[in-house]
Amino acid sequence: MQVIEAKGFKIPIVGLGTWALRGRDCARLTEQAIRIGYRHIDTAQMYDNEREVGEGVRNSGKRADVIVTTKVQPTLLAPHDLERSVKESLARLRLDVIDLLLIHWPNPRVPLSETLGAMAKMKQEGYTRAIGVSNFTVALLDEVNKVSPEPVICNQIECHPFLNQDKVIAACRQHQMAVVAYSPVARGGAKGDEVLERIGLAHGKTAAQVSLRFLVQQGIAVIPRTSKIERLEENFALFDFTLSDGEMQEIRGLSRQHGRIVDWTWSPNWD
Ligand SMILES: NC(=O)c1ccc[n+]([C@@H]2O[C@H](COP(=O)([O-])OP(=O)(O)OC[C@H]3O[C@@H](n4cnc5c(N)ncnc54)[C@H](OP(=O)(O)O)[C@@H]3O)[C@@H](O)[C@H]2O)c1
Repeated sequence: MQVIEAKGFKIPIVGLGTWALRGRDCARLTEQAIRIGYRHIDTAQMYDNEREVGEGVRNSGKRADVIVTTKVQPTLLAPHDLERSVKESLARLRLDVIDLLLIHWPNPRVPLSETLGAMAKMKQEGYTRAIGVSNFTVALLDEVNKVSPEPVICNQIECHPFLNQDKVIAACRQHQMAVVAYSPVARGGAKGDEVLERIGLAHGKTAAQVSLRFLVQQGIAVIPRTSKIERLEENFALFDFTLSDGEMQEIRGLSRQHGRIVDWTWSPNWD
């Protein structure tokens, strides 16, 4: 498994997203993904499935080889709330440690320095091995890297061929942070796209695999979600073909100004 290294922390380049996976199915898919070779599982307090993700990881028998990410929900970024919620996450996961703890979304009502201080404390006290952020803009990344007492190793952002994220990706690189792409098959929208289908056909691959390969080939980690066992294999089979420069360029041409799938408009309105 290829890894991305950021500030000494290694992130397997393909992970499993688990948003909307619930109950027995979530535990079963998590376990099966690890059996196939996935070494990176993404959950969050907001997904209400940390218990099942932890169960799947434990049942796989490979806990020591897997990076488990969870995210603190944006209403809990004040230090006291954050610390309590991280302890509760770990209790739900029933794992020895969280591998990667992210701020899920920024919350302008809580000073970033306070949140990052609490995140650092969680690392120093052994609740997590590394810390990072998600949905952070270029300006916020600058601030994070100024005020965080501990290295912030990644920014998890929406990223797929239909959205241009060049500016925030460049900022991550400038700060030596890994980029982790969420919604990397555009919530299923890659399938059926004429360009991705045609390029896939030329390589004996699906449009979803082309979408994922496009990101991986740029050194961006991907965390596709599926509720189907057979697609776990499909989304993992990305390392036996290479997109040409011309194909990469053509895929880049699919990006649109309003290509976002995940709605940001609600994010600053936290109570
Ligand atoms: N940090 C954040 O704010 C944030 C936001 C959103 C998501 N995330 C994380 O990123 C993960 C992935 O993002 P996402 O769930 O939004 O979207 P995604 O992974 O791009 O898309 C998932 C959807 O695509 C379908 N799909 C998956 N593989 C496919 C394939 N090979 N061919 C055709 N369709 C396929 C799935 O359907 P089936 O189930 O039918 O296969 C599902 O409906 C999430 O699960 C979550 O862990 C983080």
